[in-house]
Amino acid sequence: MKKRTVEVTEVANVINEKLKKGIFLTSKSGDKVNSMVIGWGHIGRVWERPVFIAYVRTSRYTSELIDSNPEFTVNVPVNGFSRQAFALCGMRSGRDIDKISTAGLSLVEPEVISVPAIKEFPLTLECRVIYRQMQDASLLPDDIRNKFYGEACPEEHICYYGEIVAAYMIEE
Ligand SMILES: Cc1cc2nc3c(=O)[nH]c(=O)nc-3n(C[C@H](O)[C@H](O)[C@H](O)COP(=O)(O)O)c2cc1C
Repeated sequence: MKKRTVEVTEVANVINEKLKKGIFLTSKSGDKVNSMVIGWGHIGRVWERPVFIAYVRTSRYTSELIDSNPEFTVNVPVNGFSRQAFALCGMRSGRDIDKISTAGLSLVEPEVISVPAIKEFPLTLECRVIYRQMQDASLLPDDIRNKFYGEACPEEHICYYGEIVAAYMIEE
């Protein structure tokens, strides 16, 4: 599988744009690989390092996997993607099913970390978690807290700061 290295600054706008509809975040612990859809996140620089910051609710299986193995890949579908993959990864938990095989996704050997990339979502950031911070919903304005942390979904998000250690496009 061929990979073309990309500059993080050159792909930041594309990633921020794609986040509006949802991109994928993949984690791995032991031999378990799992992918979820994320709509929140951002690329930036912290502590003089390029980072991708993801917001993962404590209830997600993904948070268990990242806490066990603090690495993740960000997988951006630049050429469209199947509704099935989106529905599975955005609505079903990896606790209950193997989303990768059910969605027919192809894992690609990573360059630096242990979490694989995904061929079908070729723009890839490999991230190593250098900081994690639990959100404190009590500090939010009432309207945001009530909308996002009400009775239906009270779990707060953990912000994972992933240092971007490799960035590339997977090419056939
Ligand atoms: C468009 C979209 C965006 C989402 N964004 C996030 C997000 O940023 N953070 C989050 O915790 N969950 C988000 N979700 C929900 C998770 O993808 C969903 O709960 C998933 O099933 C979690 O999988 P897991 O339990 O295997 O980790 C989003 C779902 C959709 C459809």
